[in-house]
Amino acid sequence: MLPQSSLLLVASLLAALPANADGIYTKKSPVLQLNQKTYGSLIANSNYTSIVEFYAPWCGHCQNLKPAYEKAAQNLNGLAKVAAVNCDDDENKPFCGQMGVQGFPTIKIVTPSKKPGKPRVEDYQGARTAKAIIDAVVDRIPNHVKRATDKDLDKWLGQNEERPKAILFTEKGTTTPLIRALAIDFLGAIDVAQVRNKETASVEKFDVSEFPALVVVSGGDSEPKVYEGELKKQPITEFLKQFASPNPDATGQAASTAAKPKKSKPSKPAKAAPKVPVVPEDEEENADAEATPEVKPAQVPVIPSIPTLATPESLESACLSSKSTTCVLALLPATSEPDAALPSAATDALTSLAEIAHKHAQRGTHLFPIYGVPGANSVSESLRSSLGLGTSDVLEIIAVNARRGWYRRYGQAEDFGLAAVEGWVDAIRLGEGAKEKLPEGIVAEPEAEKPKEEEPNKEEEPNKEEPEHDEL
Ligand SMILES: *[C@@H]1O[C@H](CO)[C@@H](O)[C@H](O)[C@H]1NC(C)=O
Repeated sequence: MLPQSSLLLVASLLAALPANADGIYTKKSPVLQLNQKTYGSLIANSNYTSIVEFYAPWCGHCQNLKPAYEKAAQNLNGLAKVAAVNCDDDENKPFCGQMGVQGFPTIKIVTPSKKPGKPRVEDYQGARTAKAIIDAVVDRIPNHVKRATDKDLDKWLGQNEERPKAILFTEKGTTTPLIRALAIDFLGAIDVAQVRNKETASVEKFDVSEFPALVVVSGGDSEPKVYEGELKKQPITEFLKQFASPNPDATGQAASTAAKPKKSKPSKPAKAAPKVPVVPEDEEENADAEATPEVKPAQVPVIPSIPTLATPESLESACLSSKSTTCVLALLPATSEPDAALPSAATDALTSLAEIAHKHAQRGTHLFPIYGVPGANSVSESLRSSLGLGTSDVLEIIAVNARRGWYRRYGQAEDFGLAAVEGWVDAIRLGEGAKEKLPEGIVAEPEAEKPKEEEPNKEEEPNKEEPEHDEL
């Protein structure tokens, strides 16, 4: 009952929002702003990895994310696309619904797959810091760079004979984001390899004395050309353009700061592909031009709500008997009247939990049961007091395994968005994270306790330096 009405509340809230509300990213922002159409052309059909934030301008977590997100966009400039969709804009509502957006912000990483136009889309669950976002995206930048050795360099040079070959000689064992980005820009036009300094025969053959060094072999027996400029993406791209034209989405957002990719030597017919993702010159004009005639009202996907354990008995038998295995319980705040609207945090939480349960049901993967427990339930009240949870006017999510005698409390009371809640649920599924011992008296015959584990912190990142990805 309660969850159902909460979902309706979300739906009506979304539907009631004003049309074409201003987004939170300005025209000058490094974040690329999308609608459904440009998502298709610039993201889904790109050879680049992208991160896309679905947001609403009024959402506090979205506003809080903005500085980190813009910083990530700056840092990833030319290496990946960092984009945002304003789901408050009427034009985008159906699209946000299709993308399964249930809460704001919802952040997705879109990685090209082997099938063009059918990228892999996954929810970004990590910390909302620039560094965590950058790391997650960099990890997923496609790698089309051949790592050649003395043994196979000649063979590689002999393949696709007509195609120019760029070879990066480097002391590094890893393939940097920059060289991966260059290989993406010239995918199918210039083959890219990297050779380590210890491959002495190759190093001698190309007469390389300093690392890193970039050499291009083009057209049969002509002399290899050595790149001598700065090891930055833009000048290297300019150099490589003498040998072949980059692909349509070359340089991605870098285009805004870089020279426009004029097609000096179009070597193949340009497809109806997008040129460069540009921030709209004039947002209103753009909205008019892009708006499809039949803009439908917001379509919020119908997600079945989670079941409710309304009575103390049903709660005990489902989750608190000595035989009960893991349950997730949303202990709802007590409202003055049974049908009164829940606080928005509670609505968020129920929406997230319903979405998680729905996802698993659709995939057919096992997930422990998730229940809502109304605030007026006496067992719920005693759970709160014996576990030392918050007062009955706040929502609490806990996982409890009565058979094993542990519980775990959802600790981010300020964020009940899908990503955060799903991360917590997944950690429990994987057996990660600290479990507290259930105090006496909650379960009739508690069994042996589980040893305490280290307090995990999903948001915590290993201490690393700020990433520097704009180098070879
Ligand atoms: C992606 O790479 C292919 C070559 O594999 C190229 O033909 C295509 O134009 C690229 N797509 C974009 C949008 O640049």
